Order: sequence, then C-alpha cells, then structure tokens
Amino acid sequence: MLNKKIKNICCIGAGYVGGPTMAVIAKYCHHIQVNVVDINPDRIAKWNEHDLSNLPIYEPGLEEIVKERRGKNLHFSTNIQSNIKKADMVFISVNTPTKSKGIGAGQASDLKYVEASSREISKYAEGFTIVVEKSTLPVKTAQTIKDILESNTDSGGLKEKKSFAVLSNPEFLAEGTAINDLNNPDRVLIGGDNKEAIDALVNIYSNWVDKNKVLTTDLWSAELSKLIANAFLAQRISSINTISALCEATGAHIKDVALAVGMDSRIGKYFLNSGPGFGGSCFKKDISNLVYISNHYGLTEVAEYWQKVLNINTWQQERFVELIVKKMFGTISSKKITIMGFAFKSNTNDTRESPAIFICKKLLEEGAILKIYDPKVSEEQIAKDLGNNKIQISPKENRSWSFSSSLYETFIDSDAAIFITAWEEFENLNWSKISPKMRKPAWIFDTRSILKIDEVKKSGINIWQVGCGT
Ligand code: NAD
Ligand code: UGA
Repeated sequence: MLNKKIKNICCIGAGYVGGPTMAVIAKYCHHIQVNVVDINPDRIAKWNEHDLSNLPIYEPGLEEIVKERRGKNLHFSTNIQSNIKKADMVFISVNTPTKSKGIGAGQASDLKYVEASSREISKYAEGFTIVVEKSTLPVKTAQTIKDILESNTDSGGLKEKKSFAVLSNPEFLAEGTAINDLNNPDRVLIGGDNKEAIDALVNIYSNWVDKNKVLTTDLWSAELSKLIANAFLAQRISSINTISALCEATGAHIKDVALAVGMDSRIGKYFLNSGPGFGGSCFKKDISNLVYISNHYGLTEVAEYWQKVLNINTWQQERFVELIVKKMFGTISSKKITIMGFAFKSNTNDTRESPAIFICKKLLEEGAILKIYDPKVSEEQIAKDLGNNKIQISPKENRSWSFSSSLYETFIDSDAAIFITAWEEFENLNWSKISPKMRKPAWIFDTRSILKIDEVKKSGINIWQVGCGT
C-alpha cells in the first residue's frame, strides 16, 4: 500500500467532466492507462467515433487530445467491471442531479448514481484501490462512499485483501474553456485522510501542474469548497444582474459600472457580465444543495441568503420576457421572433438549465412563433428541451418553433430577435443585410450586451440592451 504507483485509472462517467478531465490526464501521463467507462452505450460509441466532430461533447481543444491519445492510453468503454478490476485509482464522475421527488425534492442532491458507482467499485475492485470523488457532492458524502466500499472487503480468494482510500478532488473546469482550465488550473484541490493516497494523486497532477497550486485539505473542506466556489460565482452574477435593472431605471450603463467596480483589485473584474441569468447544469443544483444543507444544520438565515441568489436569477429571466412583450405593443401572439443562441453559454453545445429554455417556453406560452439558431446545439436537443412545443407546420400556420441552420435566414420576416448566447459570431453581424429581412418596426433584444448599439440603430432597427439606461 505504501508509495502506490498508479498505472491504471478508471473513470466512471464519460460526461462533460469525465471525458475532458481524463483526456488531459492521458495527455500528460503517457505511463498511465486511462479507461473511461459509462452505462450509456450511445455516449461511449460517440467517444469512439472515427469522425472526431461527432464526439458527444463540444469543447475547444478536446478533439486534438482525443485524436492524439485515443487507443494509446485513453480508452472509452461500457465494460465497467473489467476496468474497475484492473484500476489502481477509480474516479467517480457521474451526474449528481437535484432530487425530483421525496425528501428534499427540488433541493437535495440525488446521490443514486454515486451510490451505484460505489457499489460497483466495492464489488469489482481488487487489492488496494484509491477512490476519487470528482463529481460535486454534498459535504460528508465521502463517509457514505466509505461505508459502501467497506461493506464488501471480501477479497474473493485473492491473496491481497481488498481495501480502499477515499479522496475528494472536485473539478473546477468551466464548459467552453474546459481544456484550458484543465491545462492551467488556478488550483487543484485534494481532500483526504490517507497520505499515500493523497501523494499518489498529487503525483499525477505534478506531471503538469505546479506543486504550489495543489492544495491538500481534509475531506469535508474539499467537498464543501467546491459548493462554495460555485455559490460565490453565481452570487456575483445575481449581484450584477440586480444592478443591470437599476442601470436601466436610472440611465447608467452596466458595462461602465462593472468596469469601474471590477478595477478594484479587491473585487476583481471576472464574472461581472450581466445577462439572462446563469444557466448550466451546476450553479442552480449546487446552490439548491447548499440551501438544503444549511437548513439541515438549522442555519435558516444562511439558507435564505443563498436562496435569494437563485430567486434573482429567475427574476431576471421573467423581467426580460415581460419587457419584450411590453416593447412589442403588449402582445407577441402570432409574432415571429428569432432566437439567437440556445446553449447556456458560448463554446459549448450544452443546454442544461440554459436561460434560452425558460425564455423560449414563456414566449411560446404568449403565442409567439420562434425561429431558433445556434451554431452548436442540434434541433433534436432543442426539441427535447422545449418538450411538447414541437414544430408543427400545419395549413393554419400554427407552428410554434422551427430550427434554422442559416444565421441570416433566421431573421426573415421576424418582428424581433433575442440574443441569448454570447457566441462570438454574433458580435459582428452585417446589420444592413439583416434589416431588410425583418418586419418593421423591428426589435433587437440583446440580453448579453454583445451588439454594437449604433450599428443596429443605423440599420433602422430598435434595440434594447441589458443594463443600458438609454
Ligand atoms: P454528465 O451527465 O455529462 O455525465 C455523467 C455521466 O455519468 C453520464 O454519461 C452517465 O451516463 C454516467 N453515469 C451515471 N451513472 C453511472 C454508473 N453507475 N456507471 C457508469 N456511468 C454512469 O455530467 P457532468 O456534467 O460530467 O457532471 C458530472 C459531475 O461533475 C456532477 O457532479 C457535476 O456537478 C460535476 N461538475 C460538472 C462540471 C461541468 O462543467 N459540467 C464542472 C465541474 C463539476
Ligand atoms: C461553472 C464554474 O465556472 C466552474 O468553475 C465549475 O466547475 C462549473 O460551473 C461546475 O461546477 O459545473 P460553467 O457552468 O461551465 O462553470 O460555466 P460558467 O462560465 O461559470 O457560466 C455559468 C453561467 O453563468 C452561464 O450561463 C454564463 O453565461 C453565466 N455567466 C457567467 C454570466 O451570466 N455572467 C458572467 O459574468 C459569467
């Protein structure tokens, strides 16, 4: 057990975290075989696709690493049993959604996938195995994992007894910049109580991360730090979004305010872009979980404080929809509205909790006809997200939404266009080409503050921009 040399890693979960994280480990650690496993055969088949543009997730820089390492020391498979069996270290990177029913529904984490993974590790692992929490988990989950692992230490007749060490190694990557974040992390956090296990994981990261960026703590501090990092980031977004409304009401400009405030080095300039509220799979679920945990420990005021961050996020989206309807003469029924961007942020095809879903559903409820363009999100995904509002082209033209794969054609006959995702290609559009395509009076609603107001106005289109008081 001492000085454990890691030769074989297994990662359970081939998602937005498991895939890129393991690809980067494989890139820097040619001496380690990295096996990424998943219960979803379609996802694994996509990771093994010859055509790298079909990988299950879009992430700049990922294709190149997969091309370079796949089949050498990076493998994707559905064979969970054999890959756990040969692993010295197993990462748990499965999803940890919010519970949808029962005790804690809507707030607590549903740990069923973590529990299932722990049971599989407990069953198939051989000898001493280091189990690493990569998923974001409520503080104290490592105890649950330990309890499950230790319930089965029968070595099945093998000489070396089955034993485990559990580490918490939360992931801080952001989608769209995942590869860069993994290549150059601000810090790597490792929590644990087994020195040999901690050293083994530190050694892996030291292949490319400066040692003084690797922070080691106890288990509970590591687990909690991950939730709190996300809560602080989301809090900044809610804070700036409240101020965007105040700017609109007073004639101030949110970009100038954010710049002036962020230039104070104690505050910092990042995460001060006001917009349609935070999306993504994690902020909402992690803060909900923080609220749940705080209530669990009887800390009502703490829970209420963080709940407000979530409330402001929904409020910002609701106020955008109200504002759009109001500007369009109080009704959008049967009006054509172009939706520019559906992903929750640029440079990803991920739509989980995307503000676009909330806004589109509300507009559809108001009777609008939507035309949706996104450079990376598929029509199939949008159909899943918008549920029953499928495209229905009937003779009466009562269709609710359609998908467009041509950016400029998306504006044809539209009364308004709403920019929801800050894709770079939206920043320098040719407004004199767009204007004749739209029905007048036409409106542009720039929820991300990415468009050049003067150019839009010059083309004869009205524009509203978040946090812009004029
Ligand atoms: P994801 O849904 O993209 O991927 C999870 C994968 O786990 C899925 O492919 C699923 O099929 C698989 N899985 C579930 N149960 C399994 C089992 N028993 N055996 C094998 N495979 C199983 O999720 P994600 O976005 O990669 O997030 C994973 C975790 O990482 C979450 O806890 C999340 O909070 C955290 N996280 C996510 C991000 C992000 O940017 N997405 C960043 C940091 C941390
Ligand atoms: C976020 C964190 O940034 C990561 O550190 C963390 O690992 C991850 O969550 C996680 O745990 O899942 P991610 O959700 O991928 O990463 O993307 P962010 O860049 O944080 O953006 C989240 C949302 O906030 C997006 O909808 C984005 O558009 C919005 N946002 C971000 C703003 O509205 N304003 C900003 O200034 C920044």
